Amino acid sequence: MRRTKRDPGVLRRILPVVAMIRLTVDGIPVEAAEGSSILAAARAAGTDLPGLCFDERVSPQGSCRVCLVSVDGGRPVTSCTMPVREGMAVRTDDPRAAGAARLALELLVSEQPERALRIPADRSELVRACQRFGITGSQFHGSGHARDVDRSHPYVKLDRDLCIACGRCVRMCAEVQGTFALSMAGRGFDTVVVAGTGEEWISSPCVACGGCVDTCPTGALAEPGLLDPAPIDRATTTTCGYCGVGCSLRVHVRDEQVAAITPVHGAPVNRGHACVKGRFAYAFTRSRDRLTTPLIREAGRDSPLRPATWEEALDAVADRLTAVRDRYGGEAIAMISSARATNEENYLAQKFARTVLHTNNIDNCSRLCHSPSAAGLTASFGMAGGTNPFDDLDRADCILVAGANPTEAHPVIGARIKQRVLDGARLVVIDPRRIDLVGFADVHVQARPGSNVAVFNGIARALLDNGHVDQTFVRERTSGFDELTELLRDYPLDRAAHLAGVDPTPLAEAARLYGSARTPAIVYGLGITEHTHGTDGVRTLTNLAILKGAVGTLDGCGVLTLRGQNNVQGASDMGALPDLLPGYQPITAPRIRTRFSRAWGVEVPERPGLRILDMFAAATTGRLHALYVIGEDIAQTDPDTRRVQAALAACDLVVCHDLFLSRTAEHADVVLPAASFLEKDGTFVNFERRVQRVHPALPSPGEAKTDFEILHLLAQRMDADLGCPTPADAMAECASLTPTFAGISHDRLDQEGPLHWPCRGPDQPGESRLYLDRFATPDGRAALAARPYLPPGEQPDQRFPFLLVTGRRLPHYNSGSMSRRTPDLDLSPREVLDLHPDDAARLGLADGDLVEVTSRRDRVTFPVSLTDTVARGQVFTTFAFPDRPTNALTSDCADTTTGCPEYKVTAVALRPS
Ligand code: FES
Repeated sequence: MRRTKRDPGVLRRILPVVAMIRLTVDGIPVEAAEGSSILAAARAAGTDLPGLCFDERVSPQGSCRVCLVSVDGGRPVTSCTMPVREGMAVRTDDPRAAGAARLALELLVSEQPERALRIPADRSELVRACQRFGITGSQFHGSGHARDVDRSHPYVKLDRDLCIACGRCVRMCAEVQGTFALSMAGRGFDTVVVAGTGEEWISSPCVACGGCVDTCPTGALAEPGLLDPAPIDRATTTTCGYCGVGCSLRVHVRDEQVAAITPVHGAPVNRGHACVKGRFAYAFTRSRDRLTTPLIREAGRDSPLRPATWEEALDAVADRLTAVRDRYGGEAIAMISSARATNEENYLAQKFARTVLHTNNIDNCSRLCHSPSAAGLTASFGMAGGTNPFDDLDRADCILVAGANPTEAHPVIGARIKQRVLDGARLVVIDPRRIDLVGFADVHVQARPGSNVAVFNGIARALLDNGHVDQTFVRERTSGFDELTELLRDYPLDRAAHLAGVDPTPLAEAARLYGSARTPAIVYGLGITEHTHGTDGVRTLTNLAILKGAVGTLDGCGVLTLRGQNNVQGASDMGALPDLLPGYQPITAPRIRTRFSRAWGVEVPERPGLRILDMFAAATTGRLHALYVIGEDIAQTDPDTRRVQAALAACDLVVCHDLFLSRTAEHADVVLPAASFLEKDGTFVNFERRVQRVHPALPSPGEAKTDFEILHLLAQRMDADLGCPTPADAMAECASLTPTFAGISHDRLDQEGPLHWPCRGPDQPGESRLYLDRFATPDGRAALAARPYLPPGEQPDQRFPFLLVTGRRLPHYNSGSMSRRTPDLDLSPREVLDLHPDDAARLGLADGDLVEVTSRRDRVTFPVSLTDTVARGQVFTTFAFPDRPTNALTSDCADTTTGCPEYKVTAVALRPS
């Protein structure tokens, strides 16, 4: 059922406001955007006008009355609810207004326990308001309360006696997060916030985004790190290191530990919002099992890892890498760089591989997630990134979400999509599971895993049949229309629906909604790319935007690709790829190779290197002798674990950088302790090509070093100088060699804020919206792709009748190495296998029972979780828990264009354990 606004008048449209209004506040001239409140204008002008029920992120309520002002000498008005008007004269110091506000505040304080006013002022708006009015107590005697404190949740404590029933938390949960978990219960002075229907917070539908604690003006809702009254030593603004959204966060540090992380209000991507991981899951930084010294093995893989000095460890790595390189050549060594590392570290890693190891055998984990996006988007449009800024969603009237579960994997994006839908946009969800967004959707196409190309061809055919193709755009700005039209003869809706295992009705409705929209947007994720025909999935999805003329124009909102790990876009942008130098410049182009060779003073190897899955094959066949892995747990997260383990065992030398002793580190000869994203200087690129600064908020524990430092030290020991001694220098060098980053520097980012690439010069703005003049393909046209549906690599059969889909759950990310070392574990303590109740009944399984899951490669036992979010015949789980090694089951089938594994389709059998 489609969710609708609770109160149609409540939710704001977040649309660009252009007209500016001139007014005065206490005699000072002020300009404010049309539609803003007097309170917002007064605060922007520098007054500390309090407003206890006001938060600029949510709709005004006007209930606390501490924000009273006079306008043009008239009677007091609530400044939070009154919009600015041209020429108005506002007085915040009007005696009648101030007196009435003081009275309202005293009444509120009369209901509060004494401890409410002992909270440090920087953590309580109530205390700051009292300080402004000189209130230290109340002339009134309130009824007082003795309501209990809910400490059930690891991240949200509710002290009910401190609640002033301002409703900000309720509005944040509804209007910003879109979860509707909170409401006000009780009457009059007994009114208090409740989660769910009044159960303990931990058992409620709260998703722990932190919006409620962030907005609470009194400390009634608070987070553990800010309960301690001890002062915060310092706060640093940086970019989140979990997913590819790139939220701006403020890291508050006390005694060299993270005390709290809060979202930056007004930040471009997250707009003052965050999710349970970025906001709260930081305890891993000081986890007891954090690696703090290098580890080496004394005598082969059977000997234990022992602590070593950096000198010992670096000498061991340098000597053994040199020996392999000198004996077998650089192509006997491969490096896997990290989508968790900064751009500067990835730049240095690929430079190290090419200039010190003399090989192009470098890849990063985008190979395993979004390499089909890079290939598909480049082929369709000319560049390897999403086409539009996410803010364009604010003007989308229809959002097509395909193969993505943003409310769990990219929660801030999921919340923004909900906001837009609650504001009236239509929503189409194409996904094998009934994900959370389906509750907000107009239509859900529950297509069978592996059928994306059939689905998108069916919708494309319907766009043609319904007259929803922008013929002028197609004629003037595209190529390949005739070939596509010919192919689509084979994809009438009935056939496409049959191939996808769905009824034709939702597919037709999806096509009608997207086709009839004025400004449609496409948002997609790994459910499109992680397939044997992942690049075809991307190409056929982009066909829809091209046919509609909804990309490269202001009529549509383009194609947005939700990247997985925080810097998966940047790792590829920086050239940590076997066939591409920074900025996707082909290694096979002599002119480009020469430019890099001259700049680096070393001949760049010509032959493209190995992709990640090819590295494993090369190791097991004796062609690869050393594997150097930076910050990836390939033994847990890469498909077909046995094959990965065999490759690791076959290598003469395995080196890894990591925060913890990962499954991969257990196979390594040398393990080097690495810094986390909270301890680094550099930049990340988010899913919309936005380059953002990363600042170190705290020192690394023990002797851990940044990947940047480690690579420099290692190069020195191998008698090489990588140049660019600082991350800023690395970005400068990359910019000097890469036209798309030519205008990006740390200085500029620090002064101007984030920039989108391409940014072609220091005086050029970054290009957030691409292709408005021409596409970047060789002929300047968007290329329509005629791709037939081909079946996935694995199909269910009698022996393996179920389809296993892998993905993510809200509290954990990827391998879970960081989130499992935080109280997120209280929210999701173990991995389960989602199974439809009808299938469970057939197998005689009850909720929580163990089931043995067998694929053509291995078997793993899971507890089952019965849910109808998965279709009959399908099961779902993640690979965030090493004790349930899901990737022992997944196959080596991979995208035929890019080698991206087919994580989304594995044929399995289930047997009660
Ligand atoms: Fe204006 Fe509460 S902030 S009435």
